[in-house]
Amino acid sequence: MSVQAKRRADYQPPAFSIATVDLHITLHPTETKVVSTLAIARNGAHNAPLVLDGDGLELNAIAVNGEALSEEFYTLGDNTLSINSELDTFELVITTTIAPEHNKALEGLYLSGGAYCTQCEAEGFRRITYFMDRPDVLSVYTVTVVADKSIPMLLANGNPVDKGDIGASSHFVKWHDPHPKPCYLFALVAGDFDLLTDSYTTSSGKEVALELYVDKGKKSQGVFALESLKRAMKWDEDVFGLEYDLDIYMIVAVDFFNMGAMENKGLNVFNSKFVLADQESATDDDFFNVESVIAHEYFHNWTGNRVTCRDWFQLSLKEGLTVFRDQQFSADMTSALSNRIKHVRVMREHQFAEDASAMSHPIRPEEVIEMNNFYTVTVYDKGAEVIRMFHTLLGPDGFRRGMDEYFKRHDGQAVTCDDFISAMQSATDLDLTQFARWYSQSGTPVISVEHKIQNDDNDDVIHTFTLSQHTPATSDQSEKESLYIPVNIEIIDDEGNTYTDNESMIQNGMVILNAPSMSFTVNAENASLTPVVLGNFSAPAKVENPLDTASLLTIFKYAKDPFNRWDAMQTLYDRCIKQIEDAPGCAISNDIWEGIKQAIAQEQSNLELLGECLVTPSFETLCQSRSNINVSALSKARKAFCDQFAQALEQELLQVFNNIDAASYSYTQDAVNQRRCKNVVLAHLARLPQHEGAIVAQFDAADNMTDTLGALRSAQHCNSATFDTLMARFEATWNHDPLVLDKWFALHATQNRDDIFATITMLCEHPQFAMSNPNRVRSVIGSFAFYNSERFHALDGSGYKFVTDYLLKLDAVNPQVAARIVTPLTQWQGFANEHQVLMKQQLGRLLNHKGLSKDVFEKVSKSLA
Ligand code: ARG
Ligand code: ZN
Repeated sequence: MSVQAKRRADYQPPAFSIATVDLHITLHPTETKVVSTLAIARNGAHNAPLVLDGDGLELNAIAVNGEALSEEFYTLGDNTLSINSELDTFELVITTTIAPEHNKALEGLYLSGGAYCTQCEAEGFRRITYFMDRPDVLSVYTVTVVADKSIPMLLANGNPVDKGDIGASSHFVKWHDPHPKPCYLFALVAGDFDLLTDSYTTSSGKEVALELYVDKGKKSQGVFALESLKRAMKWDEDVFGLEYDLDIYMIVAVDFFNMGAMENKGLNVFNSKFVLADQESATDDDFFNVESVIAHEYFHNWTGNRVTCRDWFQLSLKEGLTVFRDQQFSADMTSALSNRIKHVRVMREHQFAEDASAMSHPIRPEEVIEMNNFYTVTVYDKGAEVIRMFHTLLGPDGFRRGMDEYFKRHDGQAVTCDDFISAMQSATDLDLTQFARWYSQSGTPVISVEHKIQNDDNDDVIHTFTLSQHTPATSDQSEKESLYIPVNIEIIDDEGNTYTDNESMIQNGMVILNAPSMSFTVNAENASLTPVVLGNFSAPAKVENPLDTASLLTIFKYAKDPFNRWDAMQTLYDRCIKQIEDAPGCAISNDIWEGIKQAIAQEQSNLELLGECLVTPSFETLCQSRSNINVSALSKARKAFCDQFAQALEQELLQVFNNIDAASYSYTQDAVNQRRCKNVVLAHLARLPQHEGAIVAQFDAADNMTDTLGALRSAQHCNSATFDTLMARFEATWNHDPLVLDKWFALHATQNRDDIFATITMLCEHPQFAMSNPNRVRSVIGSFAFYNSERFHALDGSGYKFVTDYLLKLDAVNPQVAARIVTPLTQWQGFANEHQVLMKQQLGRLLNHKGLSKDVFEKVSKSLA
């Protein structure tokens, strides 16, 4: 396969601009007609042709200034249409035909589940019409949607300006969006939906109509999303002074969607999974996700739409920033602690893994084959961590001044990450030059902590703490430089007293590590000191801090920041599991269980922290502090630790469980914390057969999906007959609702059972399963590949092969989804050689496959290079 990578360094400004776009789209399943009228103007003096992108289009006609263009004035390439005109400004009319019904890749315009829908980011607009499909070409759009009257709702960006009948059987709606935008923000939706309406008055008194479109019969499940939208609108006014800028804001929920949601101007399109929620069918996590994704897309209206990206290498400009904004919003709406823990888990489970793989890239990538492959945890979540560090360094007020300056300078423009950094620079006396390396350097820095104790001349006891940084080479970059790292730090003794350093390097609980290493000293008589380093995960880094278990328990007891206390427990658990790995069959010593018992007693009334502290690190997180992993050995060690945990702490766990009363359901933070804690504890108890009854009882009594699913998850540890019975009951109840059934699919696919492939095959033949629906594929095949570590990594190679066989079929239908699910296979670097050989064998099969998409090709070829 010969595919050309694009490089950030090769950016050229567009040779032409397109001031207005007038689209006339007549919908038809197999013959949709698109007439596009463009106002073209040459940028500067040159005589290059106008090159438009196009993909899979049937070209019907081209006219320049009202005259059909004869063939010698244009060239049709594989994926381009070049117009050779000497005119500096002209009107270009292009007519093309497309077949939305045949579009299973769900990019461009597609027809699925009875609705027409578009997805243009990153480069889908070229599948609708010929255009300069790049984010730095901004145009004002007018869109007329024509369809058969059997399709009643015809939506596009902006405000509706006209509508009417065409003959007896067709009708049209015309839309105008006054804000110039890149084509990736274009959207069209047409179908028959239920509509929820509401309104919002902005802080300056403008009334905005809010409309939420959902599948027929799902109206009551849209209420929470609409309320979330209003909270997000208010929050952005309060925190950033940003108001909405059109008269109408529409959200459509669709069942077939490649990702979470899309921020098209004034017309967001959502995966229905991130809109629909009610007590019976949605878990607390689902409610949380709905609110945060609704907010994320809304916040894009300023960070993404009003100020957009110059080129796709700058994706983190809008995504890192918008994720940071939605995280801050969620923390304000729910709880700062559980949010931070949630997001740090994502970094440690997925982003660290990406950076350790052949797909490692800086948050601003240098080289891309298929842009869809770069909507990554690095660009999004590490990108958000980098924005968080700006926020930490500048403080909330400085950060706000920087944001104000960013909008003042760049509203209406397509800009770069450097433009963002420079706006932030204007708001601080700190020199951000070195800090900017976070944009160009990939990899996870490791901060090592050294603690030396000496007596000085006066016989005082001096503790010297040295922090060093080192970023291991990554597949894309062998040389690494020192980063500018804000390291949150607390020095405490074993009675909880805190200490300051002699050199005053610690300022506001923070030291700056901007060289390979730095040291500071603390005087302390008769005290043993514990350094709590990288508190609140103040930078996206790993820490090597050789603390003994007593110190970890001291941190749990006394650290000021609850996040640090949670983190100490995670490290403690990791240590214990390591101990069992090194000496299989060994028993964790009693003082550790005693320490945890004390911790439980100490936090009995703080169910939020307690619940989080009782979660043992996931297999995926454990992988990031290990190399040369033998999956079955690590899984066995993790399981042995969890079994001992349940046995040693049974009485304490039971007490916590019984003390939480099942108040009637509400989605409030207190109630969420209670359910969370109770279900975490239940999953531990599930490892003891005598508590099976509690699981079945919870399943029977549950009046909400959180507790139902909590019971089912716990049942994964029970004997298989109990699990099977509960699963069958669940299916009987929810068979009609595929979104809920996804949870059931995922539970089946993550079972560690000998008959796992028979099970998955059975799931793929389930009447509600379809390979064309990304949610279904993710919950069955994605769950297996990402989270069924023991079966996926089985040393007979069966898991790798099974996923590869599936991907070979899926790739022909939906390359974007296939390229997502191939990820675990490409992350072979951390595993023992026996695994690596088998994983690469399957990657080789993919690479050799004729007609492989460039999405999968890019990831597979990099990982075999
Ligand atoms: N901009 C969207 C969001 O994060 C996601 C678009 C993802 N596009 C893609 N091709 N994967 O809100
Ligand atoms: Zn986004």
